[in-house]
Amino acid sequence: MIYWLIILGIVLFIAASLIITTLRVTIPPMPSSRAVRWLMIAFLKKYHYEGSIVELGAGWGGLSRKAARALPHLPVTGIEISLLPFVFSWITQKVSGLKNLKHKKSDIYRIPFEPGAAYLCYLSSACMGQLEEQLTREESQGILVVSAVFALPGRIPLEVKEVNDLYRSRVYVYLLE
Ligand SMILES: C[S@@+](CC[C@H](N)C(=O)[O-])C[C@H]1O[C@@H](n2cnc3c(N)ncnc32)[C@H](O)[C@@H]1O
Repeated sequence: MIYWLIILGIVLFIAASLIITTLRVTIPPMPSSRAVRWLMIAFLKKYHYEGSIVELGAGWGGLSRKAARALPHLPVTGIEISLLPFVFSWITQKVSGLKNLKHKKSDIYRIPFEPGAAYLCYLSSACMGQLEEQLTREESQGILVVSAVFALPGRIPLEVKEVNDLYRSRVYVYLLE
C-alpha cells in the first residue's frame, strides 16, 4: 500500500510540475520534429562557424544533444526553466559523455546575450515577442537566431525554409544588426 502511495505521489508531482510550468511560460516541453531539427542544424552549419550555441528553452535536451554531436568543436548550452525536462537533459548529458554540452536551469530572459553566439529556439509567439524586446534592449549585434515555427516580430529573416513535417513548419534565421 505504502509503495502505491509513493508512486502516486511521484506521478502527481511530475504532472503538477509540468502543468504549472507550462501555464507559467505559455509553452509545454514539446520536442521539435526530426525534420525541423535537421534544418536548424543545417542552418547552423551554413551560418555559424565559431562561438557558442545556446538553446533557449531546451526542453528534454534532444536538439542541444544533436547540435553538440553535429558541431563537436563548438560549446553548446541548453537553458530550460522546467525542472523535470532540465533534470532529464542533465542526466542524459552525463550518460552521453558529450564534453561540449551543458545544461542550465534558468529563465531565458535572465541570461545576457553572448557576443557572436548562435541562439536556437522553439518557443511560442508570446515568448518571441518577449525575446524581441530583450534583443532590442540589450547588446545583440552579430547574434544569429534560428527559430523553429515562430518568427521574431518586426524583423526580416535572412532565410526561411519550410520542412516536410505534419504541420509544414517553418524555420527562420536572423542575423541581428
Ligand atoms: C516547445 S519546447 C521546445 C523544446 C526544444 N527546444 C526542442 O526543440 O525540442 C519549449 C521549451 O521552452 C521552455 N521555456 C519557455 N519559456 C522559458 C523561459 N522563460 N525560460 C526557460 N525555458 C523556457 C519550456 O519550458 C519548454 O520546455
